[in-house]
Amino acid sequence: MKNLSFYLVTDTHYFESSLGASGKAYDEYMKREQYFMAESSDIVKTVFEKIAADKSTDTVIIPGDLSKNGEFESHKSFIKELNKLKESGKKIYVITAGHDFNEYSRAFVNDECIKVEGTPFTELYNLYYDFGYSQALAVDKRTLSYVTQVSDGLRLLAINCDSEGKRKGTIDDELYAWMQEQLDDAKKADCKVFAICHYPVIPPVPVFDLVGDAKLYDWRKAASFLADNGVEVVLTGHMHIQSINEYVSEKGNKLIDICTSCLVGSPAKYRKINLSDSSVKVESIDVPDFGADMKGLPVNEFFDNQFRYSIVNRINGMLSGGKGFGKFAKKTGKKILNKITVGGIGRILCIKVDKSIKKVKFIDLAGDIGIAIFSGDAAYTEGTPVYNAFSKALKRLNFIIKKVEPKLSKNGVEVNLNKMLLNTIGNNKGYSDNNAEIKLGR
Ligand SMILES: [Fe+2]
Ligand SMILES: [Fe+2]
Repeated sequence: MKNLSFYLVTDTHYFESSLGASGKAYDEYMKREQYFMAESSDIVKTVFEKIAADKSTDTVIIPGDLSKNGEFESHKSFIKELNKLKESGKKIYVITAGHDFNEYSRAFVNDECIKVEGTPFTELYNLYYDFGYSQALAVDKRTLSYVTQVSDGLRLLAINCDSEGKRKGTIDDELYAWMQEQLDDAKKADCKVFAICHYPVIPPVPVFDLVGDAKLYDWRKAASFLADNGVEVVLTGHMHIQSINEYVSEKGNKLIDICTSCLVGSPAKYRKINLSDSSVKVESIDVPDFGADMKGLPVNEFFDNQFRYSIVNRINGMLSGGKGFGKFAKKTGKKILNKITVGGIGRILCIKVDKSIKKVKFIDLAGDIGIAIFSGDAAYTEGTPVYNAFSKALKRLNFIIKKVEPKLSKNGVEVNLNKMLLNTIGNNKGYSDNNAEIKLGR
C-alpha cells in the first residue's frame, strides 16, 4: 500500500450567512450553542484556502454535518467552496450526516427565528455527487454509503450511519451485509481499507458510553466488525471532540478511532493525517484568524469563550422554570451554584481540597473541565488538585454511585462509574489525542 497523506476536516456546520444570523432571537439561540453560526462560512473559507495552499497533500476527507441544519442555501454555498478546493487540485471525499437533511432548517431575521428551505435526504446524492460518489467502486444508495479507491492498494469505506427513516447513528443489518461484500471484495483485490463514519465508533471518552447519542448504537458490534474485517483506522466526528481511542475485538484485532472536533467551534481544529502500512500519524491544526472582531482575544480563546458561555447557560437553564416549590428550589439551587466555590463544596462534603482551587467558582471549573475534555489530552490526571478533589468527592458519594451503577450496566457490561468519570477528566491513555503516531499492522 502506498502512503496516503490527507486532511481531515469535520462538522463544518456551514451556514449561508445571507439567510440571516443576527438579532434578539439569534442572541438567545447562541446562549446555548457550542459553535459559531454567523461566522461559520468565513471559518470554512479560511481553512479551505490554507488547505488549498498546501501542495504536500492532494486529499481532503469530511465525515459529515456539512451544513448547519440542512438549509438548501447552505449546501449550495458549501459546495461552491468544495469546488474551489477541488480546482486547487484536491480530491475530496465527504459523507453527509444528520444535520444535512430534514433538520429544523432556520435562520434569524429581524429578531425572529424563521423557517427556511431544507434539503431532503434524497437530494444529497446529487448535491455531493462530485465528492465521493462519482468515483466510487460501489454505492449503497439506500444509505448513501460508498467505497472508493484512494490510492494504490488502499480503499476508503465511507459509512453513512445517518440516513433516512432510521435512528441516527446506526448501522442496520442491510448495511452490515453491504459492508461485508465491500470488505470481502477489497480483500480479494489485495487492498487495505480505512473507514469514515460520522458517529464515533468507540466512545470518545469513557463516560460517553452511557450517553445514547455519543457513539454508534451497538458500538462494540460495529468496532469488532470493522477490526475483524481488517479495518484498522476509522475517522469520525459528531461529538465535536478531539479524541483518539483503541478497541480490541474478542478475536484480538485492533481498531483505532480518530474523532475530530467541530471546525467552527471550540476546540476548532482539523487534522493532517499520514496513513501507512505500519502507522497512522496524526497532527492537529488550529483554525487560524478568520477575520472576525475577536475583541483582542487570541483565536482559541474566542472559540473557548463561546463554549464556556454555552456550558454555563445550559447548566443554568436546567435550573430554571418549573412551578411552585419546584421553581423556588431551582431558583435557590441556581443562586448557590453560581456563587459556590470548590472549597465550599469541599466543606459540604467534608473533603479537603487543595488551596490552589479552593477559591475557584465551581461553575467556572465546570466550564474549564468541559473545554479540557473536548480539546483532548484532558489535563486533570491523577495527582492534580482537581483529580484529587473529584476523586474524594466520588468516594464520599459512593453510597449513591453503588445504587446507580447496576442500573447503568447493559448487556453484561459492568459499569464502574468512578473509573469512568476520573478517566474522562484526565487522559490516561498513554498517547495524545491531538498529535500522535500509532503503530498499525498485525
Ligand atoms: Fe456536528
Ligand atoms: Fe452529528
